[in-house]
Amino acid sequence: MKLCRAALGVLLLAPLGVRAVEPISLGLALAGVLTGYISYPRLYCLFAECCVQKPNLSRKELQKDLNSKLFGQHLAKKVILNAVSGFMSNAKPKKPLTLSLHGWTGTGKNFASKIIAENIYEGGLNSDYVHLFVATLHFPHASNVTLYKDQLQLWIRGNVSACARSIFIFDEMDKMHAGLIDAIKPFLDYYDHVDGVSYQKAIFIFLSNAGAERITDVALDFWRSGKQREEIKLKDMEHALSVSAFNNRNNLKCSPEAMKLMRTL
Ligand SMILES: Nc1ncnc2c1ncn2[C@@H]1O[C@H](COP(=O)(O)OP(=O)(O)OP(=O)(O)O)[C@@H](O)[C@H]1O
Ligand SMILES: [Mg+2]
Repeated sequence: MKLCRAALGVLLLAPLGVRAVEPISLGLALAGVLTGYISYPRLYCLFAECCVQKPNLSRKELQKDLNSKLFGQHLAKKVILNAVSGFMSNAKPKKPLTLSLHGWTGTGKNFASKIIAENIYEGGLNSDYVHLFVATLHFPHASNVTLYKDQLQLWIRGNVSACARSIFIFDEMDKMHAGLIDAIKPFLDYYDHVDGVSYQKAIFIFLSNAGAERITDVALDFWRSGKQREEIKLKDMEHALSVSAFNNRNNLKCSPEAMKLMRTL
């Protein structure tokens, strides 16, 4: 109120200035500025979160973050860096980016996905464009799988329509009920559009303990034979994972179709 009175006082005391800026012109000018603010994305994005604030994700920044924060995961670091920076620099990817991170509990799967999210959206996991699903929390009842399936597909569709560069993180994939992985599958393929929506710029990250024992075995074998941990190559793990995690139907319950897909991620 004090401010309004002061403004009124200034207006009354400055009749010349008031005449120069008459109300209609002032209104139009304000409307113009507001329209400009709303319609000029870069300006708007200075004040509010936008779909992909950093379209040119900095490979250097991501590398710096991974090196300084994520320890002992040379394979994951390399894959994440190349996959994420390559994908983000591609203006027209042919399919969404799908990453599947496997490992024993507490090895940094959620931590790594947080680093990825933060390098794409300033808000990281809190961003409106980053969606985290925890199988046991969001899809707890086997009897509701059909409902979850519909809700999940609607959620993914709605959010990718609103922001093509949406990120979906699925935690505890190994505890996901049968059918739900099949529900995600259509979004991960090489389709230009599915029902009028393109999913090619979206990012899907799957976190799982599946295969953790085999990963530990491989690391232990390397250690026993006196080799450095960094000597472990991705192909050593890929083989271990393909024979362990997704062949075990008790670990990951999904259709053969979805299992094939997960093996190729
Ligand atoms: N490789 C790592 N480098 C640095 N910090 C780590 C690493 N792994 C785990 N941490 C720390 O431990 C915390 C827990 O790890 P995180 O939640 O990412 O494990 P997880 O692999 O998702 O385990 P779970 O399978 O039990 O979900 C992280 O928030 C982080 O602080
Ligand atoms: Mg976790």
